[in-house]
Amino acid sequence: MAIATTDLVSDPYIELFEIPEARKIRGESFPLGIKVKDGAPFKGLTDAVAHREALADKGTFNTLLRLHGAILFRGLPIKTAEDLSSFTKAFKYPQPHQEVGLSGKRTTVGDNVKTANEEPPNIKFYYHNEYGRSAHFPGILFFYSQQVPEQGGQTPLLSTIELYDKLLEETPEFVADLIEKGITGRQYYPSKEDLESKTIGWNWQDSYGFDILPKDSFETKRSKVEHVLKTRLQADAEWQENGALHVVQRLPAFRRVASTNQVVPFNGLGGVYGRQRDKGALDPPYKGTDGNYHFPTTYGDGSSIPRKYLERLLEISDEIGFLVPWVEGDVALVDNYTVQHARSPWVGNRSLLVSLWEGNEEFVPV
Ligand SMILES: [Fe+2]
Repeated sequence: MAIATTDLVSDPYIELFEIPEARKIRGESFPLGIKVKDGAPFKGLTDAVAHREALADKGTFNTLLRLHGAILFRGLPIKTAEDLSSFTKAFKYPQPHQEVGLSGKRTTVGDNVKTANEEPPNIKFYYHNEYGRSAHFPGILFFYSQQVPEQGGQTPLLSTIELYDKLLEETPEFVADLIEKGITGRQYYPSKEDLESKTIGWNWQDSYGFDILPKDSFETKRSKVEHVLKTRLQADAEWQENGALHVVQRLPAFRRVASTNQVVPFNGLGGVYGRQRDKGALDPPYKGTDGNYHFPTTYGDGSSIPRKYLERLLEISDEIGFLVPWVEGDVALVDNYTVQHARSPWVGNRSLLVSLWEGNEEFVPV
């Protein structure tokens, strides 16, 4: 048993619990289950927050998260977005993560709390690290299950430590190519004036134009966006004839976790390829049935990544994935450095909220 779990053995409020179907990775449960003890409920949220702060001060959750990658909390007195906000602050992570370049539909519903994603329930999301396509990503993710749908809607998680082991075992040449060449991703952002920005749900002005003023000329707007891309994301802008923007990101596909020396995949390869395939956009001009463009991720030298590897990546991801069996009120704490998440389709009403934070971990080159 991990050292940090001894902090929990004599805890009057919470205890470990077995999560059915949890995976064992290098001897550790993935994810770790922690629940409020029967008959020993917190008197209210303030109690739960104070209890959490005391454990955070001891570094308990940093240690547990490093060992397990994800922790599922059950039975907490959290009912609203504001409750979640107070609870997440009790972990004392350095600061909230500011999203740069949102390309999803999210609504802010509380202090540093947003809806997870508002795309229709039938749409599957493939495994990805949050903002894994970007040089600016959160270290810590909280997911809160506010409402569980009638069917489906479990959040799939996988450990990238396990993914790395499997990829290395089955496709060592693919891993070697990815490490040596890195990858280049390309994302499409229409201009705000273009009607397709309504269909797609985002545009370059709203995603990157934080400094744009109403009086700015067209050229000034563009140069401000280029500045944000360069300074915040180390990305390049390629302007298109129709006024759209291609954001080009050249990044490593694997990184080394500084605290453990572990090499892990960190990218959005599966997420981009899966969506591209589902939307019938595998071939030029890569326009999908949803009206959006889904450009392939290439190796860093511009050469294409063979589809057989991407197909196998999706298969392996499903083989090693764990579906979080949400119960209303559950909170999952996820280390974005070593865990990828996805989204299962659902039937009925579902409310999943997220809170993104800068963590205490860092990456170093492989
Ligand atoms: Fe995500």
